Amino acid sequence: MSGCIAESLPLGTLSAYATADGSFSLYSSHFNEAFHSSAGALTEAHAKFVDPAQLERFSGSKQLRVLDVCVGLGYNSAALIDALQGNSISLQWFGLELDHRPLTMALQQSSFKTIWSPQVLTILERIRDCNSWREGTSNGTLFWGDARQKLNWLPNDLKIDLILMDAFSPSCCPQLWSDEFLTALARKLAPGGRLLTYCRAAAVRASLRRAGLQLRSLLTVPGERQGWSAGTLAILPDQHEATSSQGPNWQPLSLMEEEHLLTRAAIPYRDPSGQATVEEIIKRRREEQRECKMESTNAWKRRWCRNRTGECQ
Ligand SMILES: C[S@@+](CC[C@H](N)C(=O)[O-])C[C@H]1O[C@@H](n2cnc3c(N)ncnc32)[C@H](O)[C@@H]1O
Repeated sequence: MSGCIAESLPLGTLSAYATADGSFSLYSSHFNEAFHSSAGALTEAHAKFVDPAQLERFSGSKQLRVLDVCVGLGYNSAALIDALQGNSISLQWFGLELDHRPLTMALQQSSFKTIWSPQVLTILERIRDCNSWREGTSNGTLFWGDARQKLNWLPNDLKIDLILMDAFSPSCCPQLWSDEFLTALARKLAPGGRLLTYCRAAAVRASLRRAGLQLRSLLTVPGERQGWSAGTLAILPDQHEATSSQGPNWQPLSLMEEEHLLTRAAIPYRDPSGQATVEEIIKRRREEQRECKMESTNAWKRRWCRNRTGECQ
Protein backbone atom coordinates (compact mmCIF):
# COMPACT_ATOMS: atom_id res chain seq x y z
CA MET A 1 0.00 0.00 0.00
CA SER A 2 1.35 3.44 -0.75
CA GLY A 3 0.06 6.86 -1.64
CA CYS A 4 0.72 10.51 -0.88
CA ILE A 5 -1.96 12.12 1.20
CA ALA A 6 -1.28 15.60 2.49
CA GLU A 7 1.39 18.25 2.56
CA SER A 8 2.65 21.70 3.62
CA LEU A 9 2.65 20.93 7.34
CA PRO A 10 5.55 20.24 9.74
CA LEU A 11 5.90 16.65 8.56
CA GLY A 12 5.69 17.57 4.87
CA THR A 13 3.98 14.97 2.72
CA LEU A 14 2.89 11.85 4.55
CA SER A 15 3.01 8.62 2.55
CA ALA A 16 1.14 5.59 3.80
CA TYR A 17 2.69 2.12 3.69
CA ALA A 18 2.23 -1.32 5.27
CA THR A 19 5.02 -2.45 7.62
CA ALA A 20 6.42 -6.01 7.79
CA ASP A 21 3.85 -7.18 10.35
CA GLY A 22 1.06 -5.77 8.15
CA SER A 23 0.33 -2.77 10.35
CA PHE A 24 -0.24 0.62 8.74
CA SER A 25 2.42 3.31 9.04
CA LEU A 26 3.57 6.57 7.49
CA TYR A 27 6.67 8.14 5.98
CA SER A 28 7.40 11.86 6.46
CA SER A 29 8.95 13.70 3.51
CA HIS A 30 10.08 16.56 5.74
CA PHE A 31 12.00 14.34 8.18
CA ASN A 32 12.80 11.90 5.37
CA GLU A 33 12.07 9.08 7.75
CA ALA A 34 9.55 6.30 8.39
CA PHE A 35 7.47 6.43 11.58
CA HIS A 36 8.25 2.81 12.48
CA SER A 37 10.96 0.18 12.15
CA SER A 38 11.04 -2.42 9.40
CA ALA A 39 9.73 -5.02 11.89
CA GLY A 40 6.35 -3.27 11.97
CA ALA A 41 4.51 -0.59 13.85
CA LEU A 42 2.57 -2.90 16.15
CA THR A 43 5.52 -5.24 16.78
CA GLU A 44 7.66 -2.25 17.71
CA ALA A 45 5.03 -0.85 20.09
CA HIS A 46 5.03 -4.12 22.01
CA ALA A 47 8.72 -5.03 21.87
CA LYS A 48 10.19 -1.60 22.59
CA PHE A 49 7.57 0.06 24.74
CA VAL A 50 4.93 -2.19 26.33
CA ASP A 51 6.98 -5.33 27.12
CA PRO A 52 10.01 -3.60 28.68
CA ALA A 53 7.62 -1.40 30.72
CA GLN A 54 6.64 -4.55 32.67
CA LEU A 55 3.12 -3.34 33.42
CA GLU A 56 2.61 -6.20 35.89
CA ARG A 57 4.79 -4.14 38.27
CA PHE A 58 1.83 -1.82 38.68
CA SER A 59 -0.84 -4.37 39.52
CA GLY A 60 -2.05 -3.41 42.97
CA SER A 61 -0.94 0.20 42.47
CA LYS A 62 -3.54 2.90 42.50
CA GLN A 63 -2.27 4.84 39.54
CA LEU A 64 0.01 4.59 36.51
CA ARG A 65 1.27 7.87 35.07
CA VAL A 66 2.39 7.78 31.44
CA LEU A 67 3.82 10.36 29.05
CA ASP A 68 3.87 9.54 25.31
CA VAL A 69 6.36 11.84 23.58
CA CYS A 70 5.48 11.94 19.86
CA VAL A 71 2.12 10.19 19.81
CA GLY A 72 2.02 10.01 15.98
CA LEU A 73 -0.50 7.35 14.96
CA GLY A 74 -0.95 6.38 18.59
CA TYR A 75 0.43 2.83 18.43
CA ASN A 76 2.52 2.97 21.61
CA SER A 77 -0.21 4.35 23.83
CA ALA A 78 -2.93 2.23 22.22
CA ALA A 79 -0.88 -0.94 22.80
CA LEU A 80 -0.22 0.12 26.39
CA ILE A 81 -3.88 0.94 27.13
CA ASP A 82 -4.88 -2.36 25.48
CA ALA A 83 -2.45 -4.26 27.71
CA LEU A 84 -3.96 -2.60 30.79
CA GLN A 85 -7.54 -3.62 29.98
CA GLY A 86 -9.25 -5.69 32.64
CA ASN A 87 -6.80 -4.28 35.17
CA SER A 88 -8.04 -1.99 37.93
CA ILE A 89 -5.14 0.46 37.59
CA SER A 90 -6.21 4.00 37.01
CA LEU A 91 -4.19 5.55 34.17
CA GLN A 92 -3.19 9.19 34.07
CA TRP A 93 -1.97 9.76 30.51
CA PHE A 94 -0.34 12.69 28.75
CA GLY A 95 0.72 12.93 25.11
CA LEU A 96 2.84 15.39 23.15
CA GLU A 97 2.57 15.70 19.38
CA LEU A 98 3.14 18.35 16.72
CA ASP A 99 0.87 17.24 13.89
CA HIS A 100 -2.78 16.10 13.94
CA ARG A 101 -2.58 14.19 10.66
CA PRO A 102 -0.92 10.89 11.69
CA LEU A 103 -3.65 10.02 14.20
CA THR A 104 -6.42 11.25 11.88
CA MET A 105 -5.02 9.21 8.99
CA ALA A 106 -4.61 6.10 11.15
CA LEU A 107 -8.22 6.35 12.29
CA GLN A 108 -9.33 6.39 8.65
CA GLN A 109 -7.65 3.02 8.00
CA SER A 110 -9.71 -0.10 8.61
CA SER A 111 -6.49 -2.16 9.00
CA PHE A 112 -5.55 0.13 11.91
CA LYS A 113 -8.98 0.20 13.50
CA THR A 114 -9.38 -3.59 13.50
CA ILE A 115 -6.28 -3.96 15.72
CA TRP A 116 -7.86 -2.21 18.69
CA SER A 117 -10.74 -2.92 21.04
CA PRO A 118 -13.74 -0.53 20.96
CA GLN A 119 -12.53 1.04 24.25
CA VAL A 120 -9.08 1.85 22.85
CA LEU A 121 -10.59 3.17 19.61
CA THR A 122 -12.92 5.44 21.57
CA ILE A 123 -9.95 6.87 23.47
CA LEU A 124 -8.01 7.52 20.23
CA GLU A 125 -11.06 9.18 18.70
CA ARG A 126 -11.54 11.37 21.78
CA ILE A 127 -7.90 12.47 21.54
CA ARG A 128 -8.38 13.29 17.84
CA ASP A 129 -11.64 15.19 18.40
CA CYS A 130 -11.29 16.73 21.88
CA ASN A 131 -7.58 16.40 22.87
CA SER A 132 -8.61 14.57 26.01
CA TRP A 133 -10.49 11.53 27.28
CA ARG A 134 -11.88 10.12 30.49
CA GLU A 135 -12.99 6.57 31.25
CA GLY A 136 -13.84 5.56 34.80
CA THR A 137 -10.96 6.76 36.97
CA SER A 138 -8.55 6.98 34.01
CA ASN A 139 -8.00 10.08 31.93
CA GLY A 140 -5.70 11.59 29.36
CA THR A 141 -4.73 14.85 27.67
CA LEU A 142 -2.75 15.51 24.54
CA PHE A 143 -0.91 18.81 24.19
CA TRP A 144 -0.53 19.61 20.49
CA GLY A 145 2.56 21.60 19.47
CA ASP A 146 6.32 21.50 19.85
CA ALA A 147 7.09 19.05 22.65
CA ARG A 148 9.91 21.30 23.87
CA GLN A 149 7.40 23.93 24.90
CA LYS A 150 4.42 21.72 25.61
CA LEU A 151 6.32 19.64 28.15
CA ASN A 152 5.98 22.66 30.45
CA TRP A 153 2.18 22.34 30.25
CA LEU A 154 2.27 19.14 32.32
CA PRO A 155 1.37 19.64 35.99
CA ASN A 156 4.50 20.85 37.82
CA ASP A 157 4.32 18.27 40.56
CA LEU A 158 3.50 15.33 38.26
CA LYS A 159 5.86 12.38 38.58
CA ILE A 160 5.73 9.93 35.70
CA ASP A 161 6.16 6.15 35.80
CA LEU A 162 6.65 5.60 32.06
CA ILE A 163 7.89 7.87 29.32
CA LEU A 164 7.49 6.48 25.79
CA MET A 165 10.01 8.47 23.76
CA ASP A 166 9.45 7.97 20.04
CA ALA A 167 10.73 11.06 18.21
CA PHE A 168 12.28 10.75 14.75
CA SER A 169 15.99 9.87 14.85
CA PRO A 170 18.48 12.29 16.46
CA SER A 171 20.09 13.26 13.16
CA CYS A 172 16.66 14.27 11.70
CA CYS A 173 15.03 15.65 14.84
CA PRO A 174 17.87 16.59 17.26
CA GLN A 175 15.67 19.14 19.05
CA LEU A 176 13.88 16.30 20.86
CA TRP A 177 17.13 14.50 21.76
CA SER A 178 18.98 17.49 23.18
CA ASP A 179 20.70 17.28 26.54
CA GLU A 180 18.25 19.90 27.83
CA PHE A 181 15.07 18.16 26.63
CA LEU A 182 16.21 14.72 27.82
CA THR A 183 17.17 16.20 31.20
CA ALA A 184 13.73 17.82 31.46
CA LEU A 185 12.11 14.44 30.72
CA ALA A 186 14.33 12.67 33.27
CA ARG A 187 13.31 15.24 35.93
CA LYS A 188 9.68 14.26 35.40
CA LEU A 189 10.30 10.60 36.27
CA ALA A 190 9.14 9.11 39.56
CA PRO A 191 11.67 6.98 41.49
CA GLY A 192 11.84 3.66 39.61
CA GLY A 193 10.29 5.41 36.58
CA ARG A 194 11.36 4.32 33.11
CA LEU A 195 12.03 6.10 29.84
CA LEU A 196 11.79 3.78 26.84
CA THR A 197 13.05 4.49 23.37
CA TYR A 198 14.07 2.68 20.18
CA CYS A 199 17.13 4.98 20.10
CA ARG A 200 20.58 3.56 20.93
CA ALA A 201 22.61 6.63 19.95
CA ALA A 202 25.60 7.34 22.20
CA ALA A 203 24.70 11.05 22.47
CA VAL A 204 21.24 10.18 23.77
CA ARG A 205 22.46 7.51 26.17
CA ALA A 206 25.18 9.80 27.52
CA SER A 207 22.63 12.59 28.14
CA LEU A 208 20.26 10.19 29.91
CA ARG A 209 23.09 8.89 32.09
CA ARG A 210 24.21 12.43 32.95
CA ALA A 211 20.61 13.12 33.96
CA GLY A 212 20.97 10.42 36.63
CA LEU A 213 19.29 7.51 34.84
CA GLN A 214 20.63 3.95 34.72
CA LEU A 215 20.91 2.51 31.22
CA ARG A 216 19.85 -0.84 29.80
CA SER A 217 19.97 -2.04 26.21
CA LEU A 218 16.88 -3.31 24.36
CA LEU A 219 17.29 -6.55 22.41
CA THR A 220 16.42 -6.76 18.72
CA VAL A 221 13.04 -8.27 17.93
CA PRO A 222 12.19 -10.97 15.38
CA GLY A 223 11.77 -9.46 11.92
CA GLU A 224 14.07 -6.55 12.71
CA ARG A 225 17.58 -6.25 11.27
CA GLN A 226 19.83 -7.94 13.83
CA GLY A 227 22.20 -5.49 15.46
CA TRP A 228 23.93 -4.67 18.69
CA SER A 229 20.95 -2.99 20.31
CA ALA A 230 17.33 -2.13 19.51
CA GLY A 231 17.05 0.80 21.85
CA THR A 232 17.39 2.03 25.40
CA LEU A 233 15.63 1.63 28.70
CA ALA A 234 16.64 4.37 31.15
CA ILE A 235 15.60 4.00 34.78
CA LEU A 236 15.55 6.56 37.58
CA PRO A 237 16.89 4.58 40.54
CA ASP A 238 14.55 4.12 43.49
CA GLN A 239 16.47 4.27 46.75
CA HIS A 240 14.08 1.74 48.30
CA GLU A 241 14.43 -0.87 45.56
CA ALA A 242 17.40 -2.29 43.63
CA THR A 243 17.22 -1.72 39.88
CA SER A 244 17.13 -4.99 37.88
CA SER A 245 19.99 -5.44 35.47
CA GLN A 246 18.00 -7.75 33.18
CA GLY A 247 14.37 -8.00 32.04
CA PRO A 248 12.05 -8.87 29.17
CA ASN A 249 13.77 -7.67 25.97
CA TRP A 250 16.55 -5.85 27.83
CA GLN A 251 19.99 -6.42 29.33
CA PRO A 252 22.92 -4.39 30.68
CA LEU A 253 24.98 -2.40 28.19
CA SER A 254 27.79 -4.52 26.72
CA LEU A 255 31.44 -3.42 26.90
CA MET A 256 31.12 -2.35 23.28
CA GLU A 257 28.14 -0.13 24.12
CA GLU A 258 29.91 1.33 27.17
CA GLU A 259 32.94 2.19 25.04
CA HIS A 260 30.61 3.82 22.49
CA LEU A 261 29.77 6.34 25.21
CA LEU A 262 33.43 7.35 25.41
CA THR A 263 33.64 8.31 21.74
CA ARG A 264 32.78 11.56 19.95
CA ALA A 265 29.39 10.05 19.10
CA ALA A 266 28.53 10.70 22.75
CA ILE A 267 28.83 14.48 22.37
CA PRO A 268 25.28 15.66 23.12
CA TYR A 269 22.87 17.63 21.00
CA ARG A 270 22.56 21.00 22.71
CA ASP A 271 19.58 23.37 22.64
CA PRO A 272 19.78 25.68 25.69
CA SER A 273 17.09 28.06 24.38
CA GLY A 274 14.69 25.22 23.57
CA GLN A 275 14.09 26.92 20.24
CA ALA A 276 17.12 26.08 18.10
CA THR A 277 16.69 24.81 14.55
CA VAL A 278 17.90 21.39 13.38
CA GLU A 279 20.75 23.07 11.47
CA GLU A 280 21.90 25.09 14.51
CA ILE A 281 21.92 22.04 16.78
CA ILE A 282 23.80 19.85 14.27
CA LYS A 283 26.36 22.59 13.48
CA ARG A 284 27.05 23.22 17.16
CA ARG A 285 27.55 19.51 17.83
CA ARG A 286 29.89 19.07 14.82
CA GLU A 287 32.04 21.94 16.10
CA GLU A 288 32.18 20.45 19.56
CA GLN A 289 33.06 17.03 18.12
CA ARG A 290 35.86 18.57 16.03
CA GLU A 291 37.42 20.22 19.07
CA CYS A 292 37.05 17.43 21.61
CA LYS A 293 39.75 14.96 22.63
CA MET A 294 37.51 11.90 22.85
CA GLU A 295 38.19 8.78 20.77
CA SER A 296 36.87 8.97 17.22
CA THR A 297 33.80 6.86 16.61
CA ASN A 298 35.54 5.33 13.58
CA ALA A 299 38.33 3.99 15.80
CA TRP A 300 35.68 2.44 18.07
CA LYS A 301 33.98 0.91 15.01
CA ARG A 302 37.28 -0.55 13.76
CA ARG A 303 37.77 -2.23 17.13
CA TRP A 304 34.28 -3.68 17.37
CA CYS A 305 32.82 -3.98 13.86
CA ARG A 306 34.25 -7.04 12.22
CA ASN A 307 31.55 -8.34 9.92
CA ARG A 308 31.22 -7.36 6.28
CA THR A 309 28.03 -5.36 6.64
CA GLY A 310 29.77 -2.99 9.02
CA GLU A 311 27.28 -3.78 11.79
CA CYS A 312 29.06 -4.13 15.12
CA GLN A 313 28.97 -7.63 16.60
C1 LIG B 1 8.43 8.37 14.79
S1 LIG B 1 6.97 9.30 14.78
C2 LIG B 1 6.12 8.72 16.20
C3 LIG B 1 5.39 7.43 16.00
C4 LIG B 1 4.36 7.17 17.05
N1 LIG B 1 4.91 6.96 18.36
C5 LIG B 1 3.44 6.04 16.70
O1 LIG B 1 3.37 5.04 17.43
O2 LIG B 1 2.79 6.14 15.67
C6 LIG B 1 7.53 10.86 15.34
C7 LIG B 1 6.43 11.85 15.63
O3 LIG B 1 7.06 13.01 16.20
C8 LIG B 1 6.28 14.14 15.88
N2 LIG B 1 7.13 15.34 16.08
C9 LIG B 1 8.15 15.77 15.31
N3 LIG B 1 8.69 16.88 15.85
C10 LIG B 1 7.99 17.16 16.97
C11 LIG B 1 8.06 18.18 17.97
N4 LIG B 1 8.99 19.15 17.92
N5 LIG B 1 7.19 18.13 18.99
C12 LIG B 1 6.24 17.15 19.06
N6 LIG B 1 6.14 16.15 18.16
C13 LIG B 1 6.99 16.16 17.13
C14 LIG B 1 5.88 13.89 14.45
O4 LIG B 1 4.74 14.64 14.12
C15 LIG B 1 5.64 12.37 14.44
O5 LIG B 1 4.28 12.09 14.64
